Amino acid sequence: MAERVEVMLTEEEVDRRIQEIGDQISKDYAGKQVHLVCVLKGGSFFMCELAKRITVPVSLDFMSVSSYGADTKSSGVVKIVKDLDEPLEGKDVLVVEDIVDSGRTLSYLLAMLSDRKPASLRLCTLLDKPDRRVVDVNVDYTGFRIPDEFVVGYGLDYDQRYRNLPYIGVVRFDD
Ligand code: IMP
Ligand code: MG
Repeated sequence: MAERVEVMLTEEEVDRRIQEIGDQISKDYAGKQVHLVCVLKGGSFFMCELAKRITVPVSLDFMSVSSYGADTKSSGVVKIVKDLDEPLEGKDVLVVEDIVDSGRTLSYLLAMLSDRKPASLRLCTLLDKPDRRVVDVNVDYTGFRIPDEFVVGYGLDYDQRYRNLPYIGVVRFDD
């Protein structure tokens, strides 16, 4: 099926917003070190751009998760495919995600990370689709609230493609 990508948020708009969030995080974490936890793969582009704009000391770690089979999807139980390298105890942890959709993955992930006794635990997402929320998730920093459309770019994929687009686009199918 032929598909095309329509621009929803330009590279300039995304970059400007990431700068604003970086400024806010730098203020909020003044005098502290922020430990960014990237959820692979989608969060990686956003995390790198965000980290470059934070002026307090930053450390980074990465994890990769996948949903268990279709039957357990509603429970929101996720499998850790790659765990963090470092313990979180005593750290000011900021989880960086590409998008919050149903909220299932993040609510499970945040509960799991909070058991590791970080000094603080917050969530930063580039995109939020509030209309799709099934499980309540407290988002501390949001780049953009977007309508219920399937988006790609800036780390987000359709069938593993388009992650490298420097803007956020909507996938359209022509028939
Ligand atoms: P949820 O919040 O648990 O439903 O899962 C969110 C995950 O679904 C994200 O981390 C993305 O990997 C994926 N996802 C949700 N919406 C989109 C989209 O519009 N484009 C690409 N991936 C998406
Ligand atoms: Mg993701």
